[in-house]
Amino acid sequence: MPARVPVGIVGAGPAGLLLAQLLARRGIASVVLERSSREHVESRVRAGVLEQPTVDTLTAAGVGQRLAREGIVHHGIELRFGEAAFRVDFASLVPGRNITVYGQREVVRDLIAARLADPAAPTGHLRFEVSDVELSGLESDQLVLGFTQHGQREQLACDWVVGCDGYHGVSRGWFPRAEVRQFEHVFPFAWLGVLAAVAPSSQELIYSRHERGFALHSMRSPELSRFYLQVPPGEDADQWSDERIWSELCTRLETVPGWRLRTGPILEKGVAAMRCFVHEPMRHRRLCLAGDAAHIVPATGAKGLNLAVADVRLLSAALAGWFETGSETGIEAYSAACLRRVWRVQDFSCWMTRLLHVSPAADAFERRAQLAALDAVSQSRASATVLAENYVGLDASGALA
Ligand code: APR
Ligand code: PHB
Repeated sequence: MPARVPVGIVGAGPAGLLLAQLLARRGIASVVLERSSREHVESRVRAGVLEQPTVDTLTAAGVGQRLAREGIVHHGIELRFGEAAFRVDFASLVPGRNITVYGQREVVRDLIAARLADPAAPTGHLRFEVSDVELSGLESDQLVLGFTQHGQREQLACDWVVGCDGYHGVSRGWFPRAEVRQFEHVFPFAWLGVLAAVAPSSQELIYSRHERGFALHSMRSPELSRFYLQVPPGEDADQWSDERIWSELCTRLETVPGWRLRTGPILEKGVAAMRCFVHEPMRHRRLCLAGDAAHIVPATGAKGLNLAVADVRLLSAALAGWFETGSETGIEAYSAACLRRVWRVQDFSCWMTRLLHVSPAADAFERRAQLAALDAVSQSRASATVLAENYVGLDASGALA
């Protein structure tokens, strides 16, 4: 007889870990199966901008203490283009709403610590270095997850299974092909992400559209800065010496008279594609998807983590309804509610990407029109408000603002 658990979760990224945590707060046990080691999961550097509803959800989940201490609240962002600089001021455009800069790596560390400290969780509820995860019984609602850990094949019977295994995971493949539609778009450029041991050169994030390509100045702490450079797709990060990185960042960011970029040791660098992806639907019978397993948005709007949190916020409430009262209402609405938000965020992230990147195929006309679009954001309160409203995040309820 396989062991039993109410919810089996594949993947211990932010989506899987937060889902396990939110379910635990409602008294629902789960087991999380993760392919990588704990060290690997806790060391991945990802984006670091949290919308207010994300902060609220993490706080309500009991993992908000360090975030409240170390997270940096930002009330605006800066856009640079040509020789112009424009501050998108959240306080005046979207009063009372802001963002918090706190690395996703820290979110994951806080969640793992909280899960491992949960006295009510069943033994072996968070398993790292698990391989060959398979699902059977989907069409009969008799779900069984098979997996291997420490050379031992095991089985886990579940009422529900949730695929939180990211873009490269296996769980999407468990949906019947005939029921699925997938949408994909890849931009003709990538991002070189850089973590540097140097104090930020600005209090707020700077998004720069430069003729040589986009650059972003972000941060992690008073001692750590995070940068991104637009590079060709498939670029090899090793082609980028520290010297070359700083020279290119200076060229693309030092466009405002008198403003200088601080430089320092580079701790880490890596290249990520600029990709859009949506898998519809996000539920089939008792199998659900959440986070990157179901959707990828281009990183320009920093929305990936926020979307994952919005998914699991809805899903934890829907599953609680099912376990507590047998209600199917939440779970029936789950996929459509998530997808509506996903497509809105997809649209915004693509818009912001096109606004700020220089596409290699863009001709002189398109480049001038792009500058006019940036000019409009800086001159029209209505245009700036659209940016600000989307940047700080759509409302937290299932229905969008
Ligand atoms: N079996 C078990 N675990 C798997 C498998 C598998 N076959 N395939 C992938 N995983 C694990 C990965 O090792 C990873 O730890 O699933 C996890 C997925 O985590 P993320 O990729 O972080 O995805 P998600 O939790 O949806 O996070 C969404 O965080 O990771 C960022 O860019 C992402 O910002 C987005 C947000
Ligand atoms: C980050 O800090 O990693 C970051 C910030 C803003 C973005 C994307 C990434 O738009």
